[in-house]
Amino acid sequence: MRVDGALRVPGDKSISHRALMLGALGDGVSRVRGVLRSLDVESTAGVLRALGARIPALGDEMVIEGGGLRGLRAPTVDLDCGNSGTTTRLMAGILAGSPFSARLIGDASLSRRPMGRVARPLSAMGARFAFEGGGEGLPMTVHGGRLRGLTWPMESASAQVKSAILLAGLVADVPVEVVESAPTRDHTERMLLGRGVDVRVEDGVIALVPKATLAAADQLVPADPSSAAFFAALAAIADDGELALDDVCINPTRAGAFRVLRRMGAQLRYDDRRLAGGEELARVVVSPETLRGTVIDGAEVPSLVDELPVLACVAACAEGETRVTGADELRVKESDRIKAIVENLRAVGAVAEELPDGFVVQGAGRRPFSGSVTTHGDHRIAMAFGVLGAIPGSRITIDDPACAAVSFPTFWEELARVVR
Ligand code: S3P
Repeated sequence: MRVDGALRVPGDKSISHRALMLGALGDGVSRVRGVLRSLDVESTAGVLRALGARIPALGDEMVIEGGGLRGLRAPTVDLDCGNSGTTTRLMAGILAGSPFSARLIGDASLSRRPMGRVARPLSAMGARFAFEGGGEGLPMTVHGGRLRGLTWPMESASAQVKSAILLAGLVADVPVEVVESAPTRDHTERMLLGRGVDVRVEDGVIALVPKATLAAADQLVPADPSSAAFFAALAAIADDGELALDDVCINPTRAGAFRVLRRMGAQLRYDDRRLAGGEELARVVVSPETLRGTVIDGAEVPSLVDELPVLACVAACAEGETRVTGADELRVKESDRIKAIVENLRAVGAVAEELPDGFVVQGAGRRPFSGSVTTHGDHRIAMAFGVLGAIPGSRITIDDPACAAVSFPTFWEELARVVR
């Protein structure tokens, strides 16, 4: 397989969710450029609109008239978070500090995901959570209002939980401190700082001192490194050629997959590094080389947590063993990704085994793969195996390729365009 060309993958999902939320809470007009237009971000836009925020249709240049930190109104409908964990958990923080009740619902996959991790700290701040059906999944009603400040040692590494606590402190006007067990993506901190909020980060402690207002700010959304990773992986397992990925966010808390691809032997470099929109961006240029297996442990996982499905597929094309541990969070993503990765690798002819907190892949070099992939509706499983399916001679059928629309609606067209 030869890859060739340049592409700009769509806007970063994490930053897009936050840009809409902070735009809605800002004082005055915020312009958002390059927002991701995908189902997950539509979920955030829909939830904010149901709370009275003036969010226009998702588009390349959005103008959001913020209603201020106390501008949201009690919804008259359930808040439908679709498939989106980020929508649910970050909005739980905003709702905890808002003086009304709201019921959050989601699809079958989202409804199975644990929400106790946000309910516990937000309850400690004084919000009340009601779960239906005894578990800690959606539907969930948040009774928000006046909160007290909080210092919270994180139970596990999660940017969503950290962000929920910071947003609750912001909206309720109380100081909060989050003690991280490992560094996780820091977009919320960067974006709050860029909007005049006093956020201090020192020795793994993130402290927010509230302010009565949130400044409006323009936001440029860089290309999503998690989407770019599929194409970086494709270029790494190709036989020939080079792919250039433009405007990719290379924030170190997000760039673990690029570091791992390099460690596995791929040629990967950052050209045209620059700062824009509070983040570092680069043109990520990737070409193939002989790949070898690697070891990924818990310390590295947060920086590549969403990229593990595609890295597992790359591992199947490498020489030797790849071992991933400390990744138990994969069990509670859009699917049980440890199971989904291993079962699907086996289904297409690779050798892989589950670990309680990760997986092992025995790579056997570049070769075609054939078989049927069950995505469980998980966008990243569909796209990861789409990359393997692009190897000449592969015959992989994917049960639900359309689920890529959760984060990357144009994935299949872009894939067809760059493979020669
Ligand atoms: C996200 C954080 C991560 C990641 C998710 C997006 C975010 O989840 O997997 O896709 O935008 O904060 P966790 O916070 O559960 O690790």
